[in-house]
Amino acid sequence: MAQNWTPGSWRQKPIQQVPEYPDAAALAATEATLATYPPLVFAGEARRLKKQLANVAEGNAFLMQGGDCAESFLEHGADNIRDFFRAFLQMAVVLTYGAQLPVVKVGRIAGQFAKPRSSNVEVQDGVSLPSYRGDIINGIEFNEASRIPNPERQLDAYRQSAATLNLLRAFAMGGYANLENVHQWMLGFIKDSPQADRYRKLADRISETMDFMKAIGISADSNPSLRETDFFTSHEALLLGYEEALTRVDSTSGDWYATSGHMLWIGDRTRQLDHAHVEYFRGIKNPIGLKCGPSLTPDNLIELIDALNPANEAGRLTLICRFGHDKVADSLPKLIRAVEKEGRKVVWSCDPMHGNTITLNHYKTRPFERILSEVESFFQIHRAEGTHPGGIHIEMTGKDVTECTGGARAVTADSLSDRYHTHCDPRLNADQALELAFLLSERMKSGRDEKRLAIANA
Ligand code: PEP
Ligand code: CO
Repeated sequence: MAQNWTPGSWRQKPIQQVPEYPDAAALAATEATLATYPPLVFAGEARRLKKQLANVAEGNAFLMQGGDCAESFLEHGADNIRDFFRAFLQMAVVLTYGAQLPVVKVGRIAGQFAKPRSSNVEVQDGVSLPSYRGDIINGIEFNEASRIPNPERQLDAYRQSAATLNLLRAFAMGGYANLENVHQWMLGFIKDSPQADRYRKLADRISETMDFMKAIGISADSNPSLRETDFFTSHEALLLGYEEALTRVDSTSGDWYATSGHMLWIGDRTRQLDHAHVEYFRGIKNPIGLKCGPSLTPDNLIELIDALNPANEAGRLTLICRFGHDKVADSLPKLIRAVEKEGRKVVWSCDPMHGNTITLNHYKTRPFERILSEVESFFQIHRAEGTHPGGIHIEMTGKDVTECTGGARAVTADSLSDRYHTHCDPRLNADQALELAFLLSERMKSGRDEKRLAIANA
């Protein structure tokens, strides 16, 4: 176990982005209650994900991570979860087909509630109130009662996470993810989208392959990998009191695991080496992510890797790069070179969302072409460095929202107000997400062809 570490040792360190709860006793009582609740995930599942991520680190799989920027209590419902899962499965099948690699599926869901903010206060018409920090902390409505952090919300977030996870497990294991349903995943508004034809063609080829396999005796009935899928959960572990309460010893290994989700990550604003978040993360055994923004230097990064993955275990650490379309070419190569020089095993994942946020007509938005451009650069840089572009991390929904501009069914600056529902950052709608998946699949296919050619010519 990490030296001098306990689930609460982060409390001795400086910390960023903490809400100010007015009633410390009520907060402590809530945390004590949470500590008696059952874990949401089991350590064995986190280990299974870590193994799959080790496969990604070694260049033999691709990570797809995505979901809401912030889950909300208001949007909690079966339809939203189903539509998200369906859009996610569509993307995953497109990627699997293009890359001809296993796709590791990790949702930003069932726990993605706490948000870091650039300012502690929000001012509207001369009134200043605490900033909204996610439904697990306070309410989005701009009035004093809603904006004061309320610990009871942690219990609601726990219950929502449990219910969401329950439905996701049912979908993943209970038949919804059966590859025989590959056509049905398209029902809904996607069916008349510009991506529909491309998707239908791919689904036809998969169905044909399934028919052929059935004819030779391999069917979904006899083969669980055709009818079930592994689906994992993840979130930014920002609210450490909540995380501590759900940190448990795994009885089979004796190790500490965060049980609020399978994979947790450290945000770009809370990755200071000697601060609370890094302290908490170094002691849990889950696979973890680290957001890497433009201010991260190669030396910083190596120090963080030393702290977070001292055993250099493949699959333990995913570097989620979020530089911006105009900064990635400057920022990423030097980090890759430092990691390669030191021989560190990591998963490189591309978050093309968080460095590409702009304001248009008073809406926070992200131009789709900048998102694509950052993804393209990420792939090109990895090809040039000879490293594996291991994954993608996106904010997306299964709904037809108008939050990011562009895409084949173009969302314009003027249409942003039509269906702008996010509680925090702008998400890709299902159409844009699928378009991105097709682009990724082409890039991975050409990478694969290049590799084959190199082997053939060697
Ligand atoms: C996020 O992923 O929603 C987020 C806040 O990202 P970052 O820490 O990279 O800014
Ligand atoms: Co976000």
